[in-house]
Amino acid sequence: MYYNIALIGFGGVNRALAHIISTDPEKFYCEMGFNLRIVAVSDVFLGSVYTPEGIDLALLAALPLAQGACATLPNGKTTAENEDIIKNSNADIVVEATVTDSITGQPAISHCRWALSTGKHVSTTNKGPLAFAEQELMALSLKNNVGFEYEGVVMSGTPVLRFADKLLKGSGINKFTGIVNGTANYVLGLVEQGYSFVDAITAAQRQGYAEADPSADIEGKDVMLKVIVLANRLWNTNLTQKTVQCQGISDLTETMVRQAVTEGCHWKLLGKASKQDDGSIVASVSPEKLSVEHPLAAISGAVNAITFTSDMLGDVTVSGPGAGRIETAYAILSDIIAIHQRRES
Ligand SMILES: NC(=O)c1ccc[n+]([C@@H]2O[C@H](COP(=O)([O-])OP(=O)(O)OC[C@H]3O[C@@H](n4cnc5c(N)ncnc54)[C@H](OP(=O)(O)O)[C@@H]3O)[C@@H](O)[C@H]2O)c1
Repeated sequence: MYYNIALIGFGGVNRALAHIISTDPEKFYCEMGFNLRIVAVSDVFLGSVYTPEGIDLALLAALPLAQGACATLPNGKTTAENEDIIKNSNADIVVEATVTDSITGQPAISHCRWALSTGKHVSTTNKGPLAFAEQELMALSLKNNVGFEYEGVVMSGTPVLRFADKLLKGSGINKFTGIVNGTANYVLGLVEQGYSFVDAITAAQRQGYAEADPSADIEGKDVMLKVIVLANRLWNTNLTQKTVQCQGISDLTETMVRQAVTEGCHWKLLGKASKQDDGSIVASVSPEKLSVEHPLAAISGAVNAITFTSDMLGDVTVSGPGAGRIETAYAILSDIIAIHQRRES
């Protein structure tokens, strides 16, 4: 069987997904029990293409990174056609991987809304729709009996949402503490080694970890959005940016970071949320000095980790890659598998 896929945004993540799908379709089918056919792509820079019987993946893989390049494909256009493709194509699943807008969540919220309300499943790696409209979109997905999946938004391909939701269900999770921004963690590690903050950020940009504007990573905003997404999912609450205290790593000095190492400690940017006795959720983002015995103290470089604390298990820590094109594309694949399994059952 096939699922038809529409890709909204065709940057690093969705290109990696197209690569995964095209690499070994036979193996893919044997392992998953379904195949994927990309029927549409729409991207503000590259343009759009809709081929109901499936786009030639070899041509798609070879698409140059040039403005309007989709027009070189059969049925291609130089312009993005997000709304038309989402609402009117024969896609079963819309994969939303456009750029995250951390002020409004748009236009990704509209993309998800259009898809869910026309009966299409959604997988997104974009934090925006979750941080700003999770409840509305989840209600829409339930109303239309389609999946709304977003495993990739918190720790990329490392499964934490489904892990907590499914495998720790019933354990009584009352708290989580995480290092969920690889850039900040990488920068702190380099500063420990003697880099200045400025040089460490430049090195993170050279490695492709930090954006040209690294402020969302350094000031904790990226972590805050992930804390909101995870807390809302775990406890079905409605945290917003107004209710989460947020402090990044820019108030730390190089001396503080290196002094901590001499004391057997490491500064880490932590995102936390916990359930209070009255049922309310308190969440925060701030740098903390952890002693080496702490389960998160040894998480170094661009690796991410989250410790879930529950009544029955105490601390359970999940660590793994928190970014990367292929890793994040894997998260989309895991979303599609979840959609398939729900449909089968
Ligand atoms: N890469 C990772 O490791 C990772 C990990 C977890 C989550 N994510 C999230 O996944 C999403 C995609 O990441 P990425 O690395 O693939 O980003 P990317 O390489 O910047 O690709 C995004 C693509 O979407 C296009 N785009 C922007 N606005 C659009 C719109 N309104 N309609 C159609 N296309 C639009 C962009 O065009 P322009 O370049 O012209 O804007 C770009 O081609 C982001 O929200 C990111 O935060 C990424």
